[in-house]
Amino acid sequence: MTLSAVEVNKLKQAPATEGVLPAVLSRWSPRSFSSREVSAADLRKVFEAARWAASAYNEQPWRFLVGRQGSPTYKKIFSTLIGFNQSWAGSAPVLILGVAGTKFTHNGTANGWGVYDLGASASYLTLQAAALGILTHQMAGFDQEIARKAFEIPADYAFGSVIALGYQGEPTALENEQLIAMETQPRERKALNEFVLSGWGEAADLG
Ligand SMILES: Cc1cc2nc3c(=O)[nH]c(=O)nc-3n(C[C@H](O)[C@H](O)[C@H](O)COP(=O)(O)O)c2cc1C
Repeated sequence: MTLSAVEVNKLKQAPATEGVLPAVLSRWSPRSFSSREVSAADLRKVFEAARWAASAYNEQPWRFLVGRQGSPTYKKIFSTLIGFNQSWAGSAPVLILGVAGTKFTHNGTANGWGVYDLGASASYLTLQAAALGILTHQMAGFDQEIARKAFEIPADYAFGSVIALGYQGEPTALENEQLIAMETQPRERKALNEFVLSGWGEAADLG
C-alpha cells in the first residue's frame, strides 16, 4: 500500500535534533508536486533568502532564471532536462535554473568560487522554501548546452542545478512504481564521524 503525502513527509523528516534549524530538518526533495500555486510573495521570500548568502569578494555571482508552469521560461528549462527528470519534474509549478559568473567583476580575473557561491545561495533558497512549507528538488540531470543556447547564457557563466519548487503532491500521482518507491524511501546520511575530521581519515572528537 502506498503511503499518503502526509505520511511520506513525516518519514522524510530528519530526526529532531535540539538546536538545529527546523527548516534544515524538514527540507527534502520530492518528485511529486501538487498543483497548488506558489504565491508571488513566497517566491520573492525564497529569492530574498538566496540573496543574502555569502560569496567570495561579495561577488554574488548567482543568477536564477525562474519560470512558472506554462510560461516560455518554464518550457525552456523543462526542455533541457534529461528524460528521467522530465518524467516527474513537469508537476512542479516553478522551475529555476541556477548559473554563476566565473569572473570577478572588480578585476576580470577568474573566480574559482562562482559555482560554490551559487550552491550556497541555492541552499538558502531551499531552506527558506522549506521554512514556508514549500519543497524543492535540485537536478544536475539537464543539458547545459541546450540551456546555454535557449537562454543565450554567456560563456563565462557556469551551470549549477535546475530546481523544481512547489508543494508536495501525493506519491501515487507519480504513476510509476520506481518513482513511487523512491518517493517513499527513508532518507539516509553519513554519520558525522565520517566527514568531520581532526586529521585525514581521523574522526574529530565532537564530544
Ligand atoms: C546538485 C544536485 C543534483 C541533483 N540531481 C538530481 C537529478 O538530476 N535528478 C533527481 O531526481 N535528483 C537529483 N538530486 C536530488 C538528490 O538525489 C537528493 O538531494 C539526495 O538524494 C538527498 O535527498 P534529500 O534532498 O531528500 O535530502 C540532485 C541534488 C543535488 C543537490
